[in-house]
Parts: sequence; C-alpha cells; structure tokens
Amino acid sequence: MVRPYRPTDFREIVSIEREAFSPKNPAYDIFMYISNSSDFLIAEVNGKIAGFISVMDSGADARIMSFAVKNEYRGKGIGGILLDSIINRSIKREKMRVVLEVRISNFIAINLYKKRGFEIISTIPCYYNDGEDAYFMVLNLTGGRLSQGIP
Ligand SMILES: CC(C)(COP(=O)(O)OP(=O)(O)OC[C@H]1O[C@@H](n2cnc3c(N)ncnc32)[C@H](O)[C@@H]1OP(=O)(O)O)[C@@H](O)C(=O)NCCC(=O)NCCS
Repeated sequence: MVRPYRPTDFREIVSIEREAFSPKNPAYDIFMYISNSSDFLIAEVNGKIAGFISVMDSGADARIMSFAVKNEYRGKGIGGILLDSIINRSIKREKMRVVLEVRISNFIAINLYKKRGFEIISTIPCYYNDGEDAYFMVLNLTGGRLSQGIP
C-alpha cells in the first residue's frame, strides 16, 4: 500500500534514511525533506513501513530528494511501486520532468531509473561529501505515460 506521509511515521523514516545513506544527521535531513516536499509517500507492508520517497517542486520539475526501501524489503518491487506512484502523481500535477541525482556507483538505483525511462543527462563532479560524482537523471513527462491503477 502506498499512502501520504503522516507525522507518526517520522521515527521509522529517520531509521530507514540512516540505514540507507548513513548521513550525519538523518533526523534533520528528514525534517528538511518533509518541510520542503510537495509529495512524500510511504510504502506499507502489513501495516509496517517498508520505504519512502520524497519529492520537491522545482518550477516545472519534480525533484526526488530522498528514496529508500528498508533493507529487509528490497528486491520485492516496492521501490518500483513508489517510483511509479511519484511519476503518476507528477504527471497529474502537470510537471514536465522528474529529475534526480544518484551516485555513479549506485547501479541498482540507476538500473531502476533507466527501466522507468530516466536518462543520464550529465555528471556532477564531487557532488557527495566523500567526493563521489553524481549522475543527473531526467524523465520527460511530456509523452503522457500515466499508468492506470497506480496511486
Ligand atoms: C534503490 C532502492 C530504493 C530500490 O528499492 P527496491 O524495493 O529494492 O526496488 P525494486 O524491488 O523495485 O527493485 C529494483 C531493481 O533492483 C534490483 N535489486 C534490488 N535489490 C538488489 C540487490 N541487492 N542486488 C541486485 N539487484 C537488486 C531488483 O531486482 C530490481 O531489478 P529488476 O526490475 O531487474 O528485477 C533500494 O535499493 C534502496 O533503498 N537503496 C538504498 C538507497 C538508495 O540507493 N536510494 C536511491 C538514491 S538515488
């Protein structure tokens, strides 16, 4: 099940963010994502939070700020469902593109994005604190790719 974020989800989302990205201050990061997001979705499995995705509006773009699935739930299609939901909702909100940055070593995520039609537009040198480069990836929404039955 995919649903909007609720304040009671905060702790669990922080723990998923910590597990996925090991940031210095995951609670602060999540607070910022919630404060700035236009769309923040939670994936639930049997009443438990399995993952989340947050998106910020940037003009005509919907920009993915954070996206993670809890380790034990990965590889079951949950990330794909969250991504499809955000793409559909961005189309409904009349966005022109969905954009994101991803570590160039993150093959699993890059592969998932490519399967959804995202393209690598550029490389951003030293984008991350540890010096790793990012790919800037873009999905053009102008083709009307709305998938039926996805929230
Ligand atoms: C990226 C992420 C959100 C994908 O979530 P997920 O629920 O595993 O996604 P899916 O189950 O829809 O799987 C996506 C693809 O990755 C593959 N995959 C998932 N886990 C994998 C693993 N450990 N090894 C290899 N492939 C894997 C799946 O098989 C699937 O590919 P397929 O469609 O060819 O079968 C998740 O791996 C994650 O949280 N990663 C850490 C945080 C992160 O990198 N976020 C993205 C930042 S830009």
